[in-house]
Amino acid sequence: MKVIESIAEMRQLRQQLREPVGFVPTMGYLHKGHMSLVRQARNENKSVVVSIFVNPTQFGPKEDFKGYPRDTQRDLAMLEAVTDIVFMPSVAEMYPEGFDSRVEVGEITGRLEGASRPGHFRGVTTVVAKLFNIVQPTKAYFGQKDAQQAVIIKKMAADLDMNLEVVTCPTVREPDGLAMSSRNTYLNPEERRAAAVIYGSLKLAQERWSEGERNADRIRKEMTELIEKEPLADIDYISIADAESLEELDRVEPPALVSMAVRIGKTRLIDNMVLE
Ligand code: PAJ
Repeated sequence: MKVIESIAEMRQLRQQLREPVGFVPTMGYLHKGHMSLVRQARNENKSVVVSIFVNPTQFGPKEDFKGYPRDTQRDLAMLEAVTDIVFMPSVAEMYPEGFDSRVEVGEITGRLEGASRPGHFRGVTTVVAKLFNIVQPTKAYFGQKDAQQAVIIKKMAADLDMNLEVVTCPTVREPDGLAMSSRNTYLNPEERRAAAVIYGSLKLAQERWSEGERNADRIRKEMTELIEKEPLADIDYISIADAESLEELDRVEPPALVSMAVRIGKTRLIDNMVLE
């Protein structure tokens, strides 16, 4: 496994990789969710590139960029056996003095996470477009955990004729259902226990859907009531939307994306489930 920090060297080594090349962009502090993407990339390609870059432009001014958890040594140890190249540029390498371009996807970035985190997805699409140009992968892997991000990246790649396939991989969960996330490390034991209500509410939605409930408002209301019973939880949004356009639904038609952001103490967590 080679660890590379410069764009020039990444480009050069890219030429020597065996095709097809699978690529997994991450912000590090890796967990089993990230590793499931890396494993799928390994299974479907001859070479695997993983990037670790905590991208400042996707964090809002009041968000956790500085405090975002980092542990490069541990990340590299986890990747060693399954990765050919780890691309780990500095902020100055990715955004040198004078950097002044953005990649922005339209309407779907204004909804859900985009409504709560203005500018977030512009930061994501800009850095991912740069990474795609640098790594030039055959296939790139994203987690369903960040459902809107995956939909937006697919739209960007299609609209801008990027020459690669974007693959979405299933969400990996803890035994109590909590979606794995680097941000889970912010939770104290009491908050960690409370966080299980998020998956609980998704299961409730799934249950109502299987029983034949098609009224989106009634499902949103039941989810809200369940979460409000947990004193440490504070709802940012609960959405039942068309899985592609991300438009809110009145009547639930498959595939529908049930998604939410909930604050547990100070930590903002997101999760989702698709009703099919
Ligand atoms: P990060 O949060 O590190 O996530 C990297 C990838 O891992 C994303 O595609 C995310 O959806 C996936 N992932 C995270 N938790 C997961 C889980 N529990 N199960 C399955 N997949 C999971 O997402 C980002 O970084 C950044 O926005 C990035 C795309 C790297 C751009 O900066």
